[in-house]
Amino acid sequence: MCGCFQFSKLRDLQRRFALFRGDSARSWLGRREYWEAAYASGRYKDVYEWNQTCDAIWPYVTKMLGQSFGSRVLHVGCGNSRLGRTLHDAGFVRVTNVDYSDAVIEMMRRQEPQLTWLCVDCAAPGALGADCFDFCIDKGAIDSLFESNTKAMWENGCSMVREIHRALIDGGKYLVISNGGVGIEILRATFRSVEVEHMEGYACDLYYKLITVILCTK
Ligand SMILES: C[S@@+](CC[C@H](N)C(=O)[O-])C[C@H]1O[C@@H](n2cnc3c(N)ncnc32)[C@H](O)[C@@H]1O
Repeated sequence: MCGCFQFSKLRDLQRRFALFRGDSARSWLGRREYWEAAYASGRYKDVYEWNQTCDAIWPYVTKMLGQSFGSRVLHVGCGNSRLGRTLHDAGFVRVTNVDYSDAVIEMMRRQEPQLTWLCVDCAAPGALGADCFDFCIDKGAIDSLFESNTKAMWENGCSMVREIHRALIDGGKYLVISNGGVGIEILRATFRSVEVEHMEGYACDLYYKLITVILCTK
């Protein structure tokens, strides 16, 4: 009787914890509807930089890309960051900027008609193709799935990592600029090598951020 009581109490605690995780303040981060509504309503204006500015992350980007200006670069979860433009101005003219929000892709096509913008769900199986990119850059994209604290979004995050891996050539590199490095174990389990560094600075919201910079090699 006593053991039974303890067991049901434990189950109750587990259920409450699961609910807490599902309802936690950041669960909106993983929802496509959230991003669509936020960009369409102008919440993030014409330009917004999550977690770090392009200037701050540039040394890590150039360290990965070197002088390979002709390389095919996939920029996932691009939002309305200036990174696509910055890469183009630096001579990387084969960049594919991808986001699953129609609203932000339409906005970016109007702002930057010379660049390539695609509306794609990067977690959808096969959506990014196979062995067709040399590099991938991700500033806050898998974070939005892994940090949303729901099981479904965690699985979406794992799926996105698998699709990026599939899209890269052998030896291809994936640079992740992440708030807290949540999901790093998934990256370690998927990629041949994973190197981690940290940087500090301020993004659009002017909060001080300690950022995890993760360089994965297929
Ligand atoms: C935190 S914001 C980062 C935006 C931009 N990279 C930046 O640094 O400002 C996350 C972005 O990832 C996009 N995103 C999230 N999950 C995605 C998915 N499965 N496929 C494509 N885009 C996704 C969102 O629409 C949003 O624009």
